[in-house]
Amino acid sequence: MEFKTDIFKTFDKKWALLTAGDKEKFNTMTISWGGLGTLWNKPVATVYVRTSRYTHEFMDDNEYFTISFYPEQYKKELGVLGSKSGRDIDKMNNSGLSAKALDKSMTFEEAEVTLVCKKLFKQELSVANMPEEIAESLYSGDAPHDMYIGEVVEIIG
Ligand SMILES: Cc1cc2nc3c(=O)[nH]c(=O)nc-3n(C[C@H](O)[C@H](O)[C@H](O)COP(=O)(O)O)c2cc1C
Repeated sequence: MEFKTDIFKTFDKKWALLTAGDKEKFNTMTISWGGLGTLWNKPVATVYVRTSRYTHEFMDDNEYFTISFYPEQYKKELGVLGSKSGRDIDKMNNSGLSAKALDKSMTFEEAEVTLVCKKLFKQELSVANMPEEIAESLYSGDAPHDMYIGEVVEIIG
């Protein structure tokens, strides 16, 4: 399996969708923070999800999640998926993207690349352990982020 990318720009500039669940019940949200690397001799992807996100529940309830990347033309759709919550609207059926069921998780037909990840680790990003200016600018009044690390078990696309 091969995934050619500029590791630093892929998340930040391209955005991605983080999706968890199955075709009966799933949720997705836009992410731009994340990383790809190695842990415990496995290829891994790391994402950061505020505990207030609806997607957070799906990350906790499912063993697998996907990270999918899209061509520029879908930026508007990703903008909506990154500003509306699946708690408030039927985001999955009104996103403008076509959901695609995989063996272990979900992605969308329009994705250029989908990383299928098996959850390995989760931990809260403790505000006490981060620089003060970050804590103040990003966490005063906002829910903390949980970090999820998943083994990349399949690359589709
Ligand atoms: C470009 C962009 C990047 C985002 N990155 C993250 C992220 O890395 N982590 C996070 O928790 N929320 C991130 N968000 C916010 C969520 O996508 C947004 O709150 C979304 O509406 C949550 O949906 P949900 O409640 O259905 O899970 C981002 C939003 C945008 C537009």
